[in-house]
Amino acid sequence: MIVKYCGHSCILAENDGNSVIIDPFLKGNPASALSPEDVTVNAVIVTHGHMDHVGDSVEIAKRNNCPIVAIDELCKHFVRYDASLSVHRLGVGGSFQFPWGKVKLVPAFHGIGCELFGAELAYAMPVGVLLTMGGKTLYHAGDTAVFGDMKLIGELNPIDLAALPIGGNYTMDAADSIAAAKMIGAKKYMPIHYSTFGIIKQDDAAWLEALNADGLDGVILKIGETLEL
Ligand code: NI
Ligand code: MN
Repeated sequence: MIVKYCGHSCILAENDGNSVIIDPFLKGNPASALSPEDVTVNAVIVTHGHMDHVGDSVEIAKRNNCPIVAIDELCKHFVRYDASLSVHRLGVGGSFQFPWGKVKLVPAFHGIGCELFGAELAYAMPVGVLLTMGGKTLYHAGDTAVFGDMKLIGELNPIDLAALPIGGNYTMDAADSIAAAKMIGAKKYMPIHYSTFGIIKQDDAAWLEALNADGLDGVILKIGETLEL
């Protein structure tokens, strides 16, 4: 699996000619160079209903004629907004094997509002995502606080790369993300959800140094950079 960091919490994963995008916040993202019209994917995965994660999901799903994969209630919100959208509804803890890979939703602790389209406020539990393609597993933690069951997530699912929010304010900060990493037991970690806006500014080099000091392996992907797992 090749993982490309597209800024904020957006990750594009590719394997064997198939691609999926997670949390495609592109157009409104001051730090993204990628345009929704340049995204070719088999599916769009969305961790929760906040605009900096839903982003350009609708446009990308329609252009690619592909499903949005998310928790049931968020899928319903998408379909209410646009009945022509194709969705795959998962429950937290549930998984599905698609032709291009496997998606499993895991808990995340964060806001439940889905205020995405200026439509009536809806609610859906936020989640993290385990994406397995080509025998490698990416854990995208979504927006979350650190929590003890991250240990269980790591024990039940061998993880090659864990993408953890480090920005603070809305999610766990750099120090808490290292506490999370110690529990998860992934082979490697990368920081997401930081420095897009001033309020979530973080020093990623300091984060990596602290991670390494705990004997853990990390990588900082610049926006547009890729990593092969
Ligand atoms: Ni959020
Ligand atoms: Mn967010």
